[in-house]
Amino acid sequence: MTAKIIDGKVIAAELRARVADEVARVKREHNLVPGLAVVLVGNDPASEVYVRSKHTQTQAAGMASFEHKLPADVSQADLLALVAKLNRDPAVHGILVQLPLPKGLNTEAVINAIDPAKDVDGLHPNNAGRLAGGFQALSPCTPLGCIILTKSVHASLEGMNAIVIGRSNLVGRPLVQLLLNENATVTIAHSRSRDLPGLVKQADLVYAAVGRPEMVRGDWLKPGATVIDVGINRIPKEDGKTRLVGDVAYQEALEVAGAITPVPGGVGQMTVACLLVNTLRAACAIAGLPKPAV
Ligand code: GUN
Repeated sequence: MTAKIIDGKVIAAELRARVADEVARVKREHNLVPGLAVVLVGNDPASEVYVRSKHTQTQAAGMASFEHKLPADVSQADLLALVAKLNRDPAVHGILVQLPLPKGLNTEAVINAIDPAKDVDGLHPNNAGRLAGGFQALSPCTPLGCIILTKSVHASLEGMNAIVIGRSNLVGRPLVQLLLNENATVTIAHSRSRDLPGLVKQADLVYAAVGRPEMVRGDWLKPGATVIDVGINRIPKEDGKTRLVGDVAYQEALEVAGAITPVPGGVGQMTVACLLVNTLRAACAIAGLPKPAV
């Protein structure tokens, strides 16, 4: 039997449509236009692609999109001054500084400078701490997307064994917290974990977020497991072009898993959709409105 393929494209499109409906409603009822500011420093080609897609999708959802491009050699002080200006700007409800920043800039100081109420990346220590404490918080977009994809297969994650492979601030750590909030039993694995295949074998839910092409093999999986592949790895092809692969050996996993996300067309699609959700939520919270219906 082959696994059900979890279609991130379709699920993300549905989510974006629900966001657009709520954006139209808050505009109509409260004259509020949620606004997202994205800051791109330097000209990393992959980051430029992401930022363009954020811009297009933000506008398509009816929100205001503000793009700020700074040269790679911008000073820390100038970058902090821009963040401070966006913090004060009433038309901006969400601020995202695209990572990674070029060398020489202090990422931690930049994240700490973002108003936590506008921190749609959920990276500010205030939000990360609130999430870890089980309190209401803006949570990082990729982990939010992972939970939504999992819930497209399982209505409840209560009591399930989940393994998160990877412990980054952007994905692994916040994902662990979100899974705990769903009452899953969570194992956190990483590059120093012993017997990773043995740990994965016990998991009903497998989240691979390590950035190593096809590291998780099909025979590591518990039959019927749900596999969420966060990896986006570009590997060279013979013709000089590149192809995208995840952190899971997809063809092998298809034969063992119960459900699996493809790369591309899985988690990647969800991240920007969840960014729109966070921007809408931040705008409503800042304006003192009730939580939106998405
Ligand atoms: N770079 C890759 N993914 C992300 C993300 O979700 N947020 C930010 N700020 N930078 C990223």
